[in-house]
Amino acid sequence: MKYTALVITVSDRCYRGEREDLSGPALAAYLTKQGFELLPPVLVPDEQPLIEAALIAACEADAALVLTTGGTGFAPRDLTPEATLAVCEKPVPGIPEAMRAASMKITPRAMLSRAAAGIRGRTLILNLPGSPRAALENLEPVLPAVLHGLKMLRADAPADCGKLKPSEL
Ligand code: MTE
Repeated sequence: MKYTALVITVSDRCYRGEREDLSGPALAAYLTKQGFELLPPVLVPDEQPLIEAALIAACEADAALVLTTGGTGFAPRDLTPEATLAVCEKPVPGIPEAMRAASMKITPRAMLSRAAAGIRGRTLILNLPGSPRAALENLEPVLPAVLHGLKMLRADAPADCGKLKPSEL
């Protein structure tokens, strides 16, 4: 099953053209390699209403997975998790918890990411940090479970996980 994905870069500096967006393209390349079909990428500044609008538009475009990169830290304008939780009907705390646990083995600064995740309609939204390396280090360990979640979200698998064969997990 090929899922659609959309990457949203959240960065004032990239939006103003003062810095090249490296994390958005890195995530898109990684997702393509993993078999996702990529919708056109989006770049927004760290403005909560604009982030929320981009997330809602991505859901309306029927992306199965929406990844954001940037704006999960402690800076006053880091508001990506707030925008994400504002548009989601169901929070999914386990994925960011697993990302932080995995990244804590790489750097103690992993605990500074306030990344959130949640479901809006049939779309899973997942926040990632802003640097390309950190974004991939966070995504890679959770992607197998994310794919399993997408199967359930998109009704490609029975809701009863206990009935799945190991090869289907
Ligand atoms: N996770 C991994 N795997 N590697 C990293 O280098 N950087 C951390 C954290 N998570 C990091 C990481 C740091 S320093 C910050 S401030 C937060 O992610 C938030 O990043 P953001 O503000 O770019 O979203």
